[in-house]
Amino acid sequence: MVYNFNAGPGILPLEVLESAQRALSDFNGTGLSILEIGHRTAAFEAVVCEGQQLARELMNLSDTQEVLFLQGGATTQFFQVPMNFLASDAVAAYVDAGIWGAKAIQEARLWGGVEVIGSSKADGYTHIPKSYAIPAKASYLHLTTNNTVEGTELHDIPETDVPLVADMSSDILSRRMDYRRFALLYAGAQKNLGAAGVTLVVIDRTQLGRQARQVPGMMDYRKHIEHGSMLNTPPVFAVYVSVLTLRWLHAKGGAEVLDAENRQKSDLLYGTLDSLPLFRPTVAREDRSRMNIVFRIEDPRLEQAFMERCKDEGMVGIRGHRSVGGFRISLYNALPIGHVRVLTDLMHDFAARH
Ligand SMILES: Cc1ncc(COP(=O)(O)O)c(C=O)c1O
Repeated sequence: MVYNFNAGPGILPLEVLESAQRALSDFNGTGLSILEIGHRTAAFEAVVCEGQQLARELMNLSDTQEVLFLQGGATTQFFQVPMNFLASDAVAAYVDAGIWGAKAIQEARLWGGVEVIGSSKADGYTHIPKSYAIPAKASYLHLTTNNTVEGTELHDIPETDVPLVADMSSDILSRRMDYRRFALLYAGAQKNLGAAGVTLVVIDRTQLGRQARQVPGMMDYRKHIEHGSMLNTPPVFAVYVSVLTLRWLHAKGGAEVLDAENRQKSDLLYGTLDSLPLFRPTVAREDRSRMNIVFRIEDPRLEQAFMERCKDEGMVGIRGHRSVGGFRISLYNALPIGHVRVLTDLMHDFAARH
């Protein structure tokens, strides 16, 4: 048995993998592989339409929000967002709460002014900055809703009239949230939504066209909307796996159910960490992520011993990011609570022995 706690690409539901496998040899009875069909066929257009519809329903989007399946990962959104929304003489506000957000800031600076209105960098990103003033003139406010590396999550989205932009790569559809509040949100699919190679972008079309910079077609959200995510050949297989995952999320009951399940899973793990002095969670309690749980063991020899014990029991993906060290356990939507229980039982046993 393998327990997959990878931070991304992360665990996918078995039924999604099995459906994807069937589609590799015969997609929907066409006699062709999903890898062989034309993206402009009715069969594949139906997949994209279904994906858009499911995302719309799962996030309860408004009529003006468009759903796009783009390429280039969340990293491309780091510059595509300012390219489209930030004029060279304007300013965007950013919150610097983790290494991914810091990369977004770096990229935005290439296109216009950036005001970092809050940063927890000096504290090693162990908490999320919350007391800041959002400049009313800002073209947008960029947030990272879950800091995958550091293990913090933004539990309350700030109230503001400034358009909100969010990187939701590691917590999209893992919890209840008012997705209508965002002018733009994006998520690389490979954690909670499907396979690497596709990025979900939700964009409020009323926010487009506010600045005049000419951008290449592939970078222009308006062109992608106009062409229904088919401006060029989309990553057909990755889109298909994401649509299967959205179907699975929908059948499960959507964000409401996932919110409850993810709370249970993370409460179980944090509860165990808090009850065993051997383990030390590294981030501020009120900012703890429900998706990526980061902790350390003070004694490096014990850290090594725990790593080996976990490996022996079939656990993968538990090593913390190299910038943080220690351990990171990712509890994405597809991870059953039973797998968390196996880990917490092991932790109790390990603590009793050491
Ligand atoms: C919060 C966050 N943003 C951005 C990225 C980068 O995503 P991609 O590899 O899809 O460009 C990651 C990847 O782990 C992430 O966790």
